[in-house]
Amino acid sequence: MDHFELRNGVLHAEDVPLTAIAEAVGTPVYVYSRATLERHARVFREALDALPRRHIAFAVKSNPNLAVLKVLAKEGYGADVVSWGEMDRALAAGMPGADVVFSGVGKTQQELAAALTAGVGQFNVESEEEGVELAGIARDLGCRAVATLRVNPNVDAGTHAKISTGKAENKFGVAYDRAAEIYARLAALDGLEMRGLAVHIGSQITDLAPSRAAFVKMGELMRTLRAAGFIVSHMDLGGGLGVPYRLGEVLPGPAEYGAMVAEVTRDWDATIMFEPGRVITGNSGVLLTQVIRVKPGSVAPFVVVDAAMNDLVRPAMYDAWHDFVAVRPNGERMVANIVGPICETGDTFAMGREIDAVKAGDLAVFRTAGAYGATMANTYNSRALVPEVMVDGDRWAVVANRIDPATILAAEQVPEWLE
Ligand code: LLP
Repeated sequence: MDHFELRNGVLHAEDVPLTAIAEAVGTPVYVYSRATLERHARVFREALDALPRRHIAFAVKSNPNLAVLKVLAKEGYGADVVSWGEMDRALAAGMPGADVVFSGVGKTQQELAAALTAGVGQFNVESEEEGVELAGIARDLGCRAVATLRVNPNVDAGTHAKISTGKAENKFGVAYDRAAEIYARLAALDGLEMRGLAVHIGSQITDLAPSRAAFVKMGELMRTLRAAGFIVSHMDLGGGLGVPYRLGEVLPGPAEYGAMVAEVTRDWDATIMFEPGRVITGNSGVLLTQVIRVKPGSVAPFVVVDAAMNDLVRPAMYDAWHDFVAVRPNGERMVANIVGPICETGDTFAMGREIDAVKAGDLAVFRTAGAYGATMANTYNSRALVPEVMVDGDRWAVVANRIDPATILAAEQVPEWLE
């Protein structure tokens, strides 16, 4: 459920007509709904109410906008970060360092030191090598790093290959069969306090069975480690729950996911940790765009919009579907190809799609663009970096400026030997 609805024939974000935002800020622009974010944060949290001890760390990578993080901080969420930059954002939004989990397969020594200094609550260590380095840095700083070991359970999440992370050939975590031995080595190091295990098998997961299988395997590993005398008090189950991208699509939601987790973990006696991203932010945002023109095509007309693959890369990168709807639909429909202005055939949002009839100058949105939208934007073809707006009831604010090509150009220099 979200708060982007037609009112009097005009698509609104909460109480604000998207026409007003387009007029004031220009397009393309991401628009987030605070009420939707809060709703998703609450629904996810309530779905885990049955768990005696839990910790929710929002996956910052899905939407690192400072205002978005602020909303989630107010909802009591911590953060799952994968870089110094993401950590600084979480702290800037007021999330306590202790509620921050530092994940990622390539944390640098500088990042590990900065995170220890900032009092990050948990490191999800992805290799024995990283654990040894982290222990050394912590010792040098006179502290101990609290850590879990990320394990690759070799489970196929059944999602797009580029966002599948839990198969043996993927780069993430340590091999399941070697995990107990590595845990034992790391637990013996002075600078490390190993307190558990972490797993994350992929993103946009639409079937609970693979997650369940991975969690069951993690429970078995937890028991093996405990039987050998090790402390395993925290189990981080990652993120990955998928969201509906198409109108009417029905998927297992937070409630089903929460019930599955409660069932699998009922006798774990551990703090269960989560790193949800998309399920919180996905349907909380749209990408508002204007039709530049409609040109004939050999099969269907091309609707050329002013948003492009640099603003929303998901269709080009993962063949992802984003519903496209007119801001002022006139009730008519058309079959069209929706494309951006970038000089690549990959800059295509949809082919042969039935959509609201649109013409040059009309406004439209790509829905479910709040996750992995603006955060993956770039400036390819020397386009602007897309701005972001947040709506709250009948008020709204720009929460990230458009960074125009001139500003980006100003950061470049020609060396004197080229003058
Ligand atoms: N935890 C870890 C360790 C992760 O790698 C990720 C996502 C998450 C949590 C959050 O997953 P979520 O709940 O959002 O599924 N750019 C891609 C998605 C990449 C996901 C990367 N890792 C897309 O647009 O679909």
